[in-house]
Amino acid sequence: MAEKEPIGVIGVGWVGLVTAACFADLGHEVYARDVIQEKVDSLTRGEVPIHEPGLAELVRKNAARLHFTTDMDEVLENAHLLFCCVDTPPTYSGDADLSRVEKVVEEIGDSTDHAIVMKSTVPVGTGRAIARKRVDVGYVSCPEFLKEGSAVTDFMHPDRVVVGADEGSEEFGKRVAALYEPLEAPIVMTDVASAEMVKLASNAFLATKISFINEIANVSEELGADVQEVAKGMGLDERIGSQFLRAGIGYGGSCFPKDVSALKQLAGNTGYHFQLLTAVIEVNELQKRRTIGKLQKHLGSLVGKEIALLGVAFKPDTDDVREATALVLAARLQGEGAHVRVYDPVAIENARDMLGGASIAGSALEAIDGADAAVLVTEWSEFAELDWNEVRGRMRQAVLIDGRNYLPRETLEAAGFAYEGVGR
Ligand code: UGA
Repeated sequence: MAEKEPIGVIGVGWVGLVTAACFADLGHEVYARDVIQEKVDSLTRGEVPIHEPGLAELVRKNAARLHFTTDMDEVLENAHLLFCCVDTPPTYSGDADLSRVEKVVEEIGDSTDHAIVMKSTVPVGTGRAIARKRVDVGYVSCPEFLKEGSAVTDFMHPDRVVVGADEGSEEFGKRVAALYEPLEAPIVMTDVASAEMVKLASNAFLATKISFINEIANVSEELGADVQEVAKGMGLDERIGSQFLRAGIGYGGSCFPKDVSALKQLAGNTGYHFQLLTAVIEVNELQKRRTIGKLQKHLGSLVGKEIALLGVAFKPDTDDVREATALVLAARLQGEGAHVRVYDPVAIENARDMLGGASIAGSALEAIDGADAAVLVTEWSEFAELDWNEVRGRMRQAVLIDGRNYLPRETLEAAGFAYEGVGR
């Protein structure tokens, strides 16, 4: 069997670590570089700093093929395809901050043997701008579509792989595509700008689906329809599809908020006003705040009320709290004069400094004890297993706002709760 091509990974965050571990599992030697010595040391010891199902096991299983380092030269000596996985956070203007990407490009230096394989989400046009400045180095766009919480499965079973290469880098593009062949997914070979646009447009479209169903939910609340029934009926139409039609209290995370705003900004920079995305963002912001109105409907003024927030992570099975709805709710509720208690089984440490004066509970029951209302923010499975009669007995008033339509409504109502979901 032909020897597998060694690969380099630059930036060992979520995407970088999943990419490194999965390629190692596919049999490649992986040279993964991060600037943080502490992270490199703990990864070398087999300790994984993020909560992602299956990832720690994969890192330990493939330890012999995974070489974590802070030394860029070690990566350049051993691998020619360099997956750039550094983050591109939003700036105050809504544009993506490319300073880390630029630093990586700078460090790689001039070499006709190496290619930058861009996994970081970058504005359309970034690849061409880099290639114009750095003609000696190959450039391939290979956007990542994995979801936190199911990242390893998503990497190993992608719906599609997109590889963008322009003139001069076609051979590198083919080598990148070859890495993904064992995954037996459709591979879209295209130009760099189109590959970059596939990534931003996919995230923006999924966010649009969520804001759309959230608006249908809000109207359904007024008109007496049940959004879950509506989503089921709509989703069976193959042109629409059933995924990402779960109404809730708004999308969060490190990708949708950032990428929708980056695409809107990118369009704006060319003089085009992307009206649809402006609405998608606004609907999402308002959706997070609608919970306040629901609480006021049941409790009147929130001054002095005790409110429990169940879940802080932006979604279950992750400890990521970036752009998490719970952070907005905690701040707004305190702004209304309420006392807030927060519980999350995994993400609480990451949120501790962002919760203002909210108190942190060690369990769901502790958060709920003596509360006037509880809001389910993140659909962690342990919340579905709570004994609702016990919960009811512990609360001062039995108001439950289910921000994800996740809890058993009938059981809750039978236990005496005033239950309110989203769009039902
Ligand atoms: C998202 C995309 O789904 C990935 O394809 C992409 O690779 C990734 O961004 C990225 O660009 O890195 P992720 O942010 O990990 O993945 O999480 P999602 O599962 O997409 O959820 C995002 C948010 O939307 C969460 O707050 C979730 O609760 C919310 N959501 C999702 C809904 O409110 N309703 C839905 O039907 C689906």
